[in-house]
Amino acid sequence: SIVDSQYRTGYHFQPPKNWINDPNGPMYHNGIYHLFYQYNTNGSVWGNIVWAHSVSFDLINWIPLEPAIYPSKKFDMNGTWSGSATLLPGNKPVIFYTGIDPQGRQVQNLAFPKDLADPYLREWTKPDYNPVIQPDASIEPSKFRDPTTAWFGLDGLWRIVIGSRRKMRGMAMLYRSRDFVRWVKAKHPLHSSKDTGMWECPDFFPVSLKGKRGLETSVSGPGVKHVLKVSLDMTRYEYYTMGTYYHMIDRYIPDNSSADDHTGLRYDYGNFYASKTFFDEAKQRRILWGWSNESDTVNDDKTKGWAGIQTIPRALWLDPSGKQLVQWPVEELETLRGKQVNLYDKELKSGDIYEVKGISSAQADVEVSFEISGLDKAEPFEEFWSDPQVLCGQKGAAVEGGVGPFGLLVLASGDREEQTAVLFRVFKAPNKHVVLMCHDPSKSSLRPGVYKPNFAGFVDVDINKTKKISLRSLIDHSVVESFGAEGKTCITSRVYPSKAIGQDAHLFVFNNGSEDVRITQLSAWEMTTPRMN
Ligand code: FRU
Repeated sequence: SIVDSQYRTGYHFQPPKNWINDPNGPMYHNGIYHLFYQYNTNGSVWGNIVWAHSVSFDLINWIPLEPAIYPSKKFDMNGTWSGSATLLPGNKPVIFYTGIDPQGRQVQNLAFPKDLADPYLREWTKPDYNPVIQPDASIEPSKFRDPTTAWFGLDGLWRIVIGSRRKMRGMAMLYRSRDFVRWVKAKHPLHSSKDTGMWECPDFFPVSLKGKRGLETSVSGPGVKHVLKVSLDMTRYEYYTMGTYYHMIDRYIPDNSSADDHTGLRYDYGNFYASKTFFDEAKQRRILWGWSNESDTVNDDKTKGWAGIQTIPRALWLDPSGKQLVQWPVEELETLRGKQVNLYDKELKSGDIYEVKGISSAQADVEVSFEISGLDKAEPFEEFWSDPQVLCGQKGAAVEGGVGPFGLLVLASGDREEQTAVLFRVFKAPNKHVVLMCHDPSKSSLRPGVYKPNFAGFVDVDINKTKKISLRSLIDHSVVESFGAEGKTCITSRVYPSKAIGQDAHLFVFNNGSEDVRITQLSAWEMTTPRMN
């Protein structure tokens, strides 16, 4: 059928069938990467959730194993929901996850590898002393979930955070333990923020002030900033702040430059949720996994027999400005690059559209650098455009501009009746230029009933100085994952073309602004298919 295999991804993480959501407990242990994830054993809508488990040597090729954690005891008989892994001294992994108990309460449980000599850690044991944390009288039992990776303090205590809310105040509940088994709630949450609603899947970790190297989760002190990310069930988007972790008082305080609500910084301005990082000891980097849900209809998901993917794991580090994080697909992805085409010094005059030929682009990796001849024609920026998504909705690929829109048309039919535009647009504000990056999927599919939201973010670059901006887009049948300005602004979309599929998918570069733009270099690779579960 039309909605069947053509939308399956080639190199994004997927099981052979059924529903998936959050990445759980990612870790690197003795040469092997583990990814667990929320999985419905029984269909392509949410339900019957277990922790499915896959392992990899390179984050790209994946070997499926049996589910690691599934309801089997009183303390998780109604669900085994999201959680995280921690490496205890002696390199011993432990998983913290949320169980749904007989009363439907959200409780926190531990699971340990049954046999540490099994390199794949196939089987996990849940001690009978679970649950180790229960909601006390001050906590709503249905709003208490998704424990983080634990960090270790100088005082010899472990700490974790659990997502919650009190009225509409989102909260990161803090617990401490000496032995990892008896946990005591701290007097204050690590952090909270009003009117943000339930905080799902919190993540709390250090980043180095300088360079791209990742830090082990317990690192703290000078030379380090901390990041707190939360997933808001109200908006279905994630937000992060950067700030200072005062370990003596166990409080996290965001920097003034990071908005501490649902207007703040995002890892990804598109379809990306319930993400989680882990420290990769092998390559000394911090890696981010995120879930990208379908945006076709539930009926389509039932026909397809599957729903949900994980985005390509991304290395993440602090931008030299200290004001945001930067993300880039793990370098291992490049091992999948096959047939390549290049373009050099290609002028895109106002109104030009040019097809990039020579590779099959339904499964591709494209890197391109644009150079703008001048900024005189930039449209004025209106203050009320503070929401990039609204702006992108008003000024999509088809709306002529001054500087931009220019960019890529991906998963396009030959006649461009179907196309997903990945575009930039430059505006002139009183004292600076504003760069908008946008996914415009309004023409991504001729099929009825498909949800086609546009997604957008601003890109914090000094375009006036450099006159340059780069873009990388990972195209994979029903996924477009884009990285603007070397990973400063990222956008993921799910699209479902009806004509631009397989060999009929085309790739174009375009410029719909009045100012000329030059492509200094474009490289596009056909991507080969790894072993995927
Ligand atoms: C986030 C979430 C988590 C929960 C899990 C259940 O997508 O709702 O809060 O633990 O999914 O599958």
